[in-house]
Amino acid sequence: PQSNPREIIENARRGGYAVGAYNMHNEETTEALLWAAEQADSPVFMQVGRAIIPHMGVTRAFDMTRRIAERSNAKYVIHLDHGSWDEVMEALKLGFSSVMYDGAHLPFEENIATTRKVVEIAHAFGVPVEAELGKIPDAGESVDWEDYYTDVEESRRFVAETGIDYLAISVGIVHGVIPGIPLAPINIQRIREIKAATGIPLVLHGASGLTEREIIEARAAGVHKFNADTDLRHAFRAGLEAVFARGDRQLEEAMAEGRARMVEATIHKMQQYGCAGKAAH
Ligand code: G3H
Ligand code: 13P
Ligand code: ZN
Ligand code: NA
Repeated sequence: PQSNPREIIENARRGGYAVGAYNMHNEETTEALLWAAEQADSPVFMQVGRAIIPHMGVTRAFDMTRRIAERSNAKYVIHLDHGSWDEVMEALKLGFSSVMYDGAHLPFEENIATTRKVVEIAHAFGVPVEAELGKIPDAGESVDWEDYYTDVEESRRFVAETGIDYLAISVGIVHGVIPGIPLAPINIQRIREIKAATGIPLVLHGASGLTEREIIEARAAGVHKFNADTDLRHAFRAGLEAVFARGDRQLEEAMAEGRARMVEATIHKMQQYGCAGKAAH
């Protein structure tokens, strides 16, 4: 069964570490995340996100994840990543144990009003809510960071008025990475200020491409959930490419190699986030 996400995040907050949330894309990537969690003895957030939803829909993605996870010994929760209103409602009925409602594209007051309604409904299901304030650009977009950063005063009001459980913030992070091009440094001071203003656990999306030092500093500043996808997808893809570089091979052989490399990459993230060895806590 799914574990209690509030308890997992609260343990991370008390222990001064963070938990990883990773996107699955098919059976093999789902297995990779669960095998990594078992091998690293780590809790894991299995995210149904923006790539898999158009591919198989929320319901099929949930059914696949649950079916595979129930056979594993991992400590896991199934989480909806960047959900719309309709997707959150679908996820709650299906039995997700954690949801993100993403109203970051909305004007501030509307984001508050809609997120508050989501929280009321989700909490009636006993499910905690992650919401986003500030905007997270895609890697390679050129942006004026001041328009994208989470505003500290707004974050105080947003959290107080919506009752969310964890807040996703924008502090210089981007979704994705561009291989070979370093990302802008993230603003650790802004994380500290948002933490002081809100008092709730913070979430850093776009964690692929962060340096080890940024991860350590972000943890210390109040980040207790990292979302990472691209680095793990690249690890899986490198496994496929290595097999196909040897000739016309079976898909199963390629996917097995992709899965093996994704397990290793995920264990490495769990070590960096500090959640390796924490499944029992
Ligand atoms: O108030 C809730 C959101 O605006 C979306 O809900 O589709 O019922 O308007 P709705
Ligand atoms: P990356 O692909 O940059 O790791 O971002 C993942 C993410 O934020 C999913 O919500
Ligand atoms: Zn994200
Ligand atoms: Na990133």
